[in-house]
Formats: sequence, C-alpha cells, structure tokens
Amino acid sequence: MAREFSTVGVVGLGTMGAGIVEVFARNGIDVVAVEISAPALERGRATLKGSTDRAVAKGKLAEADRDALHERVHFAVGLDALHSVDLVIEAVPEHLDLKQRIFAELDRVCRPETILATNTSSLSVTEISVATSRPNQVIGIHFFNPAPVMKLVEVVRTVVTAPEVVADVEALCARLGKVDVTINDRAGFIANALLFGYLNHAVGMFESHYATREDIDAAMKLGCGLPMGPLALMDLIGLDTAYEILDTMYRRGGRDRRHAPVPLLKQMVTAGLLGRKSGRGFYTYERPGSPVVVPDEATPLATESALADGARAITKVGIVGSGTMATGIIEVFAKAGYEVVSVTRGMEKSAKVCEAVKTSLNKGVVRGKLAEADRDAALGRISWSATLDHLADVDLVVEAVVEELSVKKALFASLDEICKPGVVLATTTSSLPVIDVAMATHRPADVVGLHFFNPAPVMPLVEVVRTIRTSPETTATARAVCAALGKTGVVCGDRSGFIVNALLFPYLNDAVKMLEASYSTADDIDHAMKLGCGYPMGPFELLDVVGLDVALAIQRELYLELREPGFAPAPLLEHLVTAGYLGRKTRRGFRDHSHR
Ligand SMILES: NC(=O)c1ccc[n+]([C@@H]2O[C@H](COP(=O)([O-])OP(=O)(O)OC[C@H]3O[C@@H](n4cnc5c(N)ncnc54)[C@H](O)[C@@H]3O)[C@@H](O)[C@H]2O)c1
Repeated sequence: MAREFSTVGVVGLGTMGAGIVEVFARNGIDVVAVEISAPALERGRATLKGSTDRAVAKGKLAEADRDALHERVHFAVGLDALHSVDLVIEAVPEHLDLKQRIFAELDRVCRPETILATNTSSLSVTEISVATSRPNQVIGIHFFNPAPVMKLVEVVRTVVTAPEVVADVEALCARLGKVDVTINDRAGFIANALLFGYLNHAVGMFESHYATREDIDAAMKLGCGLPMGPLALMDLIGLDTAYEILDTMYRRGGRDRRHAPVPLLKQMVTAGLLGRKSGRGFYTYERPGSPVVVPDEATPLATESALADGARAITKVGIVGSGTMATGIIEVFAKAGYEVVSVTRGMEKSAKVCEAVKTSLNKGVVRGKLAEADRDAALGRISWSATLDHLADVDLVVEAVVEELSVKKALFASLDEICKPGVVLATTTSSLPVIDVAMATHRPADVVGLHFFNPAPVMPLVEVVRTIRTSPETTATARAVCAALGKTGVVCGDRSGFIVNALLFPYLNDAVKMLEASYSTADDIDHAMKLGCGYPMGPFELLDVVGLDVALAIQRELYLELREPGFAPAPLLEHLVTAGYLGRKTRRGFRDHSHR
C-alpha cells in the first residue's frame, strides 16, 4: 500500500514553488505554502491567483474548482507551519548552503516520518540530504516549468533513499497526473543535462552578435518545432536560476566548458534583468511576472522597411539542381509568383523534376490547399532548361546541387561569367562555408546562403547566411525574398551549422553520450525531453528520422570547426554508423524499425 499524502508543504513560492502548490491543490491535496517574508508570501499568492484565473479564463478550470483549490492552500511565513505535513517540497533559490540550512530546519520541525523533497535542478540531492538526520527519507522531485502544464517529473533517488520512499513518491506523481522518470543523483539529471548546454550556447550566439534574439528563437521554434526559443525559455526559467544551474553543472558535471555561464548572463543578473519575473531579460515584458512581450529598443522594425534597407527587386529566379531540395524550392518560388528558370544537367533530369513538382502541386489541389487555377499558373511560370546560359537575365540564382565544395565552386565560377551584374547568388548548402563558394566568383558581396529546410514547401524557416563579404543589400534582398515566399528568414553568420544545426546536433550527441554512460534509457530520455520540455520528438526518435550518418557528419563538422571537446562525436554514434544502423532508412538505428 502506497503512503497517503493528505497534506504537503511547499517552501518558496517563486517561479516553481507557486506552480507546484497549484499542482497539488488541483489534485485535492491540502497544501501549506511557506515563504520567507510577508511580501514574498503575497507575491506567491498573487502568482497562484493569476495562474488559476488564467486557467478559468481559458475554460480549463471551473470557477467553483478554482475556489475549492484556493481553499486547500494555507499560506504562512516561516517553516514552523510545516509541523504536521506528510511531505515537503523545497523550491528556494539554487544555493547549496541555503538548501542545506532549510533541510536541517525541516528535519527539526517536521514529523519523523515526513518525506523531505527538493526541487533542485542541478545540486546534489545527496549533499542536501546529509544536512538532515533522515537522509533515507530525502528525495528529489524535479518539476518542470510551468509545473501545472508540463507532464514530466524527474524523481531523483540517492544511494541512501529508501526504496519505499521512491515507490511512494512515484505513486504520488501518478496521482498528480504526471509521468515520472526515476534516476540517480547526477548534475542536471536527464532534461537539464541535455538542455542547459544548448541554452548557454544560444546565449553565446546572442552575446557575440551572431544573430538577433528574435532570429535565434524563431530558428529553433520553426526549424525544430520547439514550443519556445532558447532565449525566451531562459527568460521563463529566470536568468538568476539559470546562472546558478549552469554554474553548478559546470562544477559538478566534469567542468564541461559548455556549461560555464556565458559572461553576459552574470551581467544581466547583476543588472536585475532576471527574465519574466523582473519584467525584463532577453525580452521586455508588460510588467514583472507577465508572459506578454512588449516592443523595446531592440525590436526589429516591420518588414516594409526592407526596401529602405536597399533590397533589390526580384522577379525572375534561376534554380540549379535536380534533387529533393531543388524540386521543393522550385515549387515554393513558382507558387509565390516568381518567374522560375530551372536548370538541371540534362533534359531527362528536367522531365523528372517537372514531374515531381507537378505531383506535389497536385497533392496540394487534392488536399484542398491549392486551387487548380493556381497550380496551373505556378506551372506556367516555370521554364525548364539544361543549360546555365538561360540564367543570363535572372535576378536571383538559388543553387541546390550536390553537397560538394568543388562542384559548387565550379558552378559559382560559371554563374559569375553568365549572370548579369547585380544578381544575387545564393547557395543552399547546409554544411559548407558560404565564403568558400563566394570566393569562386568576382562578386562575393552578392553571394549569400539560403538554407531551406526539408521539405521546402512545408518548413517555414530559411536561414539567411551572410559571410564577412556579403553586402547589406544582398542580405536585405534575401530576407525580403523569404518574406515574399511566406517564410521566416533568420540572418546569421557563416559558421558551421548556422543556427539550427549548431544548436540541435550537440544536444542530440549529448543524449547519445548519456545513453552510452547508462545513466538512463532511450525511452526515458525521449520521454523527458517531450514531456519535460515540450519537444515534438525525443532525441533518439529524431536521430532515427534524421539518419545517424547525417547526424555524425554534422557533429564532426561542428567539432572540427570549433575544436570544442564537448562536441566530439559520441563513440556510440560512430559505432552504430559503422555497423550500418543508420535509423529508419536502414530499419534500424537506436530502435528496431523492422516490424513497423
Ligand atoms: N525556474 C525553473 O524553470 C526551474 C525548473 C525546475 C526546477 N527549478 C528549481 O526550483 C528551485 C526554485 O527555483 P525558482 O526558479 O522557483 O526560484 P525563484 O527565485 O523564482 O523562487 C525562489 C523563492 O524562494 C523564496 N525563498 C528564499 N529563501 C527562502 C526561505 N528561507 N524560506 C522560504 N522561502 C524562501 C524566495 O522568496 C522566492 O520566492 C531551484 O532549486 C531551481 O533550480 C527551477
């Protein structure tokens, strides 16, 4: 029989604590909610009220249920109010000495059988537990932000946590409607160990002006389907909390430089820019605690200013190549009203591409997404050619040929001879340096990267890669073209992986390393990222779709360019690729797909 928890205590009603109170009270459990001072208590009460009022307004909670929920919560200043609760969850700031002090005090105040839990994200639960005389009844219960929404709970057992305490807490999680993964006490557990290197890397990109905050966030949302971008997520977590988590993970997690907090973070914390809770972090919010972003001095002006940026007029576009990307890009441009010249290496290939474009457009018609007349108009705008000479009068060329530098360089040298002056020359490369391609021409200022995602007609993101020689007009033109295509163009520098792959693949590689270290299973790691962070797929699901060989190649590029030890490809990934386990395409990757 699992232990009954009828009353729980929550210590600290900040970003996490207030949400944790709500989770318990919503599920019919009485809560004693404790803060350090009367004003802090009021803030906590207001947060709970705001959250439940929003739930009522959204129709997710009945008014009567909200009122009953509030009746279950008893607010108090000081830990003494916790004398008769069955379980305490501590959610005070991420400092070991503070948490140890609170646990020593809880040990004194609470009944001997009370379970003491910490919501720490990165500190050692074991070290916290030894501040009490009952380390076997101390456990980590790590909720995710926002606690009422995110389904995952990481249950952290130490070497001394009693098995029945673990079982009781697991049963409690089920009662709360949460999914738990139970793991050992390691810095960052599953989700944060995989998340924070990525978040810190994104802050580093912002700090070095590699891309704007809007572009970094849009890239990860639109390129990977994440619920929010990394900088918006930092604001939600709280920059002070994020700083402490990174700092602890750096010290506890093997001094991985990727966890050394980017200096800008410390500056922002010192300046009181803590994110949503203080009303300003990477973004500016309506008021402290509000999720509503308001424009500030860094907010980009609306796109109609593109012409003022010197964007050139584009009406006729040449697209070179006959593969998946070229086919998709031809469709995208033709549908958006551009006159398109498709150039392949032979009329046979042209016929195939033409067929593929027709099939795709027809699918749009069948699905009711495209009118027949629009399909015919789009097809009518495309001319098919097997010679580059037909690109003499286009305004923009998009190159989407094989991913080999020598081939691309030769092509750009030819384009340089054939195309009229002022044309924008774009490469869709996903891994080669755009500057290498640009320098094959005598007009590197006109060369830019346009990194489309697959399938191009569907994916809303394009990375606009400017080299150190790309002119502002060329970048503005590329961005304006993306907007005209109905895509979001994000501008970034010419570094390996641009924005999306540079942030995504090291995270996937870290997941492989975690599996390799036998810290957790592929299923639990996938669960943790989906249910704790709202990712559309877990890392192993995604790796099997992307292809392990592709992931390994990208990771190697990143490692070779930056020589960051943490980017070294996981040996397990290399072994799987050597063994021919490449993912779904070979019916076996991290999982066996032969029966599906
Ligand atoms: N922010 C997140 O996204 C997130 C997610 C999961 C876990 N966590 C963890 O949750 C814990 C709390 O983080 P947070 O972001 O909610 O911090 P926070 O700064 O938003 O809130 C901490 C609260 O603790 C209160 N407090 C401080 N000293 C106290 C004391 N002696 N007694 C009672 N209350 C006290 C503060 O007044 C404040 O309201 C940390 O361990 C953090 O690592 C945070």
